[in-house]
Amino acid sequence: MSLPVPCPNNLAEKVVAWQKTSGRHHLPWQNTQDPYRVWLSEIMLQQTQVATVLGYYERFLERFPTVKDLAAAEQDEVMPYWAGLGYYARARNLHRCAREVMEQWGGSFPRQAVDLATLPGIGRSTACAIAAFCFGERSPIMDGNVKRVFTRYFGVYGPTQKKAVENALWAQAEEVVALAPADLNMATYTQGLMDLGSQCCTRSKPTCSLCPLQSDCYAHTHQAQSELPSPKERLRQDERYAHVLILELNGQVLLEQRPDKGIWGGLLTLPQYDDAMSLQTAALHWSREEAISLASFQHVFSHFKLHITPWLLQVDEFDLAEPTAGQQWQDHEALEQTALPAPIRKLLLGLYQSKDSEQLILG
Ligand code: ADE
Ligand code: SF4
Repeated sequence: MSLPVPCPNNLAEKVVAWQKTSGRHHLPWQNTQDPYRVWLSEIMLQQTQVATVLGYYERFLERFPTVKDLAAAEQDEVMPYWAGLGYYARARNLHRCAREVMEQWGGSFPRQAVDLATLPGIGRSTACAIAAFCFGERSPIMDGNVKRVFTRYFGVYGPTQKKAVENALWAQAEEVVALAPADLNMATYTQGLMDLGSQCCTRSKPTCSLCPLQSDCYAHTHQAQSELPSPKERLRQDERYAHVLILELNGQVLLEQRPDKGIWGGLLTLPQYDDAMSLQTAALHWSREEAISLASFQHVFSHFKLHITPWLLQVDEFDLAEPTAGQQWQDHEALEQTALPAPIRKLLLGLYQSKDSEQLILG
């Protein structure tokens, strides 16, 4: 992926200088290199705002001051200290992680991001943040804030949830660190990126005038702040398939009642199957001939698109089988007054109101 803005070799230094004058310095998890405290804050901050985390963080540390205390507790004792923060899998992983640190790492968190990332609940970015804050490892982070800053700064288009886009951002973040001076303060740099994202490079109306990256930021130069990061791709609409049987006998068509649940619940409609094979199997009940398929069409519901394939089978005698429970023969003339699902109604009326239905079928 080529980027509109090349990586300048003083980007990290600008972030560090700005952090010192304008970033946050008094958050309770700053000014400590204790990985237990930093880890706890990073997990709490994963999906929760700073203002909410503050109180929880203090209470949690008062009750569980060290990783040993946390590991020694039962899970049930931990949950009350998390209640209200949401995403409770985080609390369960927190507890598992504490036990793993005790059992497999002798009670000390590993110092490298690659090892930290093997622990429960610690993803790549969180691992890198802990390693940078506590041990000065030159490992870049890529959380929501940094994604916003970097997509704008480098002009990276495409949804950041996409693997290719995310990989490009990680590669860019690695390069920024690689080009930075050997004495770059990784803790300040990492905190600076987070602070820039939350204080300047906000989701809406970023205050570029106060941003140290303004002079060579792609989004600022092109006034593209509102289109970056690119919006999440809309979930592709769910596609479903239905095969419906039009069984004809002496000017009548077979209808059946849908089950109460699901689409068209309780309505009379054509017998419906998930696939062509099931439909042909059912058709054997009526005739030795195979049903023939007509042109498929689509019907759009709020949450999915239904592809409907109608199949026609004409039988001329009553001899083969009786309708089963919930099925009934309906005169073509009465269809207009029958409460059918809209697309089925359209299909049948189209078929029977044009005199030459044969042509429609063959065409
Ligand atoms: N979000 C994640 N980590 C953070 C930190 N160290 N400071 C502020 N917000 C954060
Ligand atoms: Fe974000 Fe504006 Fe700074 Fe660019 S100049 S990184 S858009 S705050």
